Amino acid sequence: MGERDRVGAPDDLDTLDGALCVQSCERCPALVDSRSRIVNGVGPTDANLLFLGEGPGANEDSGGEPFIGRSGDVLDEALRAAGIVRSEVRITNCVRCRPPDNRDPTAAELANCRGYLDAEVARLDPELIVTLGKVPSEHLLDRSVAITGESGSVVDARIGGRSRRVLLSVHPAATLYDRSQRDGFFETVARAAELSGLEESTGEGQSRLGEF
Ligand code: URA
Repeated sequence: MGERDRVGAPDDLDTLDGALCVQSCERCPALVDSRSRIVNGVGPTDANLLFLGEGPGANEDSGGEPFIGRSGDVLDEALRAAGIVRSEVRITNCVRCRPPDNRDPTAAELANCRGYLDAEVARLDPELIVTLGKVPSEHLLDRSVAITGESGSVVDARIGGRSRRVLLSVHPAATLYDRSQRDGFFETVARAAELSGLEESTGEGQSRLGEF
């Protein structure tokens, strides 16, 4: 394998308006066929908090941004409830192209996209990564995860050769299929605010509002 063929080699990543951006990639033939675009992460490249989903769905594939469909609505609601401003956190996915028929990404597809994710995490150097669902949780931890039971726990994972703090969460879509998961999901997002220090800045802002 030549230097240019390495997944996630610096040459694969283009810096566009300060955002880590994969502009072209043909590593996964099935995803190249099913995608209409590559969906890169959004948010500041120095965000303290990174939310990691599985891969783009139909809405993300047409809109070009992670979590802008129904799952995104739930995530947005939980962020607002936790006092987190969406534009202040980074949101990305394990794979950047929509899998056909909304199937899970295969192990090979996850591996093909891993270098991009590792490079994004290295650039961000976040305080905390929140895995949204079983697929990103298992991908980062490299073990099987019973996500409903483990949601809310904080673990260390080696990412790009460094130990990173990871908060496991159910996928926001799980709250749509099973309403009983909603409170737990919202609590986990609130915990993310606390662990990443975002809660403090929100608290400050709220108390200052009283002055006006
Ligand atoms: N589900 C995901 O895992 N990621 C998205 O971007 C949208 C839905």
